[in-house]
Amino acid sequence: MTSLSTIDADRAAALTAAESAGRVDDDFLTRFDAVFPRLHTLFSRLYGVRPDGGDALAQVIARASASWNARPLDLKVGGNRRAEDPDWFQSERMLAGVCYVDRYGGNLAGIRDQIPYFRELGLTVLHLMPLFDVPEGGDDGGYAVSSYRRVNPRLGTMAQLTDLAAELRLAGISLMLDFVFNHTADDHEWARSAVTGDEAQRDFYLIFPDREMPDRFEQTTREIFPDDHRGSFVPLPDGRWVWSTFHHYQWDLNYANPWVFDAMAGEMLFLVDQGVELLRMDAVAFIWKRLGTACESLPEAHLLLQAFHEVLALAAPGTVFVSEAIVHPDEVVAYLSPDECEMSYNPLQMALTWEALATRDGRMLQQALERRHALPSGTAWLNYVRSHDDIGWTFADEDAAELGIDAFGHRRFLNAFYTGGFDGSFARGVPFQQNPDTGDARVAGTTASLAGIETDDPRGVDRVVLAHALAFSTGGVPLLYLGDEVAQLNDYSYTDDPVRRGDARWVHRANRPRDRYAQRDDTSTAAGRVFGWLTRLIAVRQATPEFGGNALIGFGTPHPSVVGFQRPGQDGGVVLVLANVGDEAVPIDPVVFSGFAPEAVEIVDEVALDLSEGLTLPPLGFAWLRVKPR
Ligand code: GLC
Ligand code: GLC
Repeated sequence: MTSLSTIDADRAAALTAAESAGRVDDDFLTRFDAVFPRLHTLFSRLYGVRPDGGDALAQVIARASASWNARPLDLKVGGNRRAEDPDWFQSERMLAGVCYVDRYGGNLAGIRDQIPYFRELGLTVLHLMPLFDVPEGGDDGGYAVSSYRRVNPRLGTMAQLTDLAAELRLAGISLMLDFVFNHTADDHEWARSAVTGDEAQRDFYLIFPDREMPDRFEQTTREIFPDDHRGSFVPLPDGRWVWSTFHHYQWDLNYANPWVFDAMAGEMLFLVDQGVELLRMDAVAFIWKRLGTACESLPEAHLLLQAFHEVLALAAPGTVFVSEAIVHPDEVVAYLSPDECEMSYNPLQMALTWEALATRDGRMLQQALERRHALPSGTAWLNYVRSHDDIGWTFADEDAAELGIDAFGHRRFLNAFYTGGFDGSFARGVPFQQNPDTGDARVAGTTASLAGIETDDPRGVDRVVLAHALAFSTGGVPLLYLGDEVAQLNDYSYTDDPVRRGDARWVHRANRPRDRYAQRDDTSTAAGRVFGWLTRLIAVRQATPEFGGNALIGFGTPHPSVVGFQRPGQDGGVVLVLANVGDEAVPIDPVVFSGFAPEAVEIVDEVALDLSEGLTLPPLGFAWLRVKPR
């Protein structure tokens, strides 16, 4: 066993390991010179105390070299092109869509049949929900992975996935898949041998002989799926306990063991070599544990992500990491950097869009845009209205307090508003993971159902359109939940399914709504009106360079229901976005626009406006205005 030593010694050992695994080509060597010192530093910080840290690092380098050798030429070329143009995903043309393979297309062949539609919509990224082999029974919607190298046979084969990725590339669409790396299913072969095998195998997971350590950890950890099990551990039949943050059949990997890093680096490289261009890094906050902490977003979680990123810089340059951290906004942004995760979900903007629609008050969203939108250069938000997961009210208590809002009470109100506990609410949502001890809960529901279309609220369509008009205009990459563009409603049939009944998120993971797609050109239907609006907004967004990148300057008005911001373009152009989350029309006084020349153009309808007359925003109306500073 060799521990980590000096850079030079470890470098030589790593190269020897790579050479014994095959040819080490010049391209690889060039990158190796740049990457190795960084990876060595990261490994020393993560695994400096381990007697076998040096061996593991050498093994990782050997894997990376072998993977580079095996990488098909077109993937090498495409990856290099993206690596040389690292701002490729900052373009206003970017639009991501997400769907389940089975629910949207039946199987991979069915997804392939949808490519013409994806092109028509303007997608440039397709996120397919996890499609790997899963256990029988509960699989957390694919997030309990039994093997990263096998496609769920119900969905297709790995060869079909590789072909699909290639066809998508030809259509100008990058494939994004999950890297579910915090945990595996309890029937993964590593998990099985951890239970029965020797210490080295056991060390892949966090297994304890009795309750002593679990009790100590649970003094400070948060309960994530209390409906499934309380605490962070589940019992094994023989009385031992295994760490399990999510469902009892999802066991957390032990990243304090460098061989876990090595093994998962191998699974990651395998995936990327199928033609995956973006990896959604699932549940990043939870990957490192330390006693006495919440075991979320620890410094080592960042080091681990950076180390995985360096492995890709060696073997598959140009691959983008998307962070999924649904946590406090200070922690969300900490994952974003060009050498950690280039992109991140923007759960704050998502949640505050719903907050604003419920309260008819845009101040929290305005504050977030002004204060928490900025990002390190080379990184971007993934802006979404909803995802396959619940809506959690992850705003900062201290931000709310500044506006005189009590965060605890406000979250209770929002949960009640969206889950039927509030008279006069337009929303039809379902509570998810109500925690009896903390009073915490989250909300499930499709965009259309949460926005009032299910209750036939006369403003339901306007809310869906407004929420997307925000997600399409604040910057970064907008992410559309496929089906939302035709106002897909909740599907309550999950309550008849014994496996899914306990997980309310299934209410918003319905099958592709064929009836609503059939209505998409019929503007007398909600589906047709939403589709007409969203496709128009997408087309305008993709023709508006100011909407690329992330630059955003708040534009305050005296009206609490109005959210306003400017998107400055490269060439001096500015698009001003105004959105009224209230139910009353808002006349905006000309003096508010005195910094701009009076001639403006509303870019959705392409009509000229005279700002010296002011502007009236209809209830739940918005305006995208090309303006000129005076
Ligand atoms: C992520 C997924 C969620 C899943 C969890 C556990 O948060 O988005 O659906 O339940 O990870 O894998
Ligand atoms: C928790 C986790 C988040 C996950 C979600 C799934 O909020 O923090 O990562 O997406 O649960 O419901």
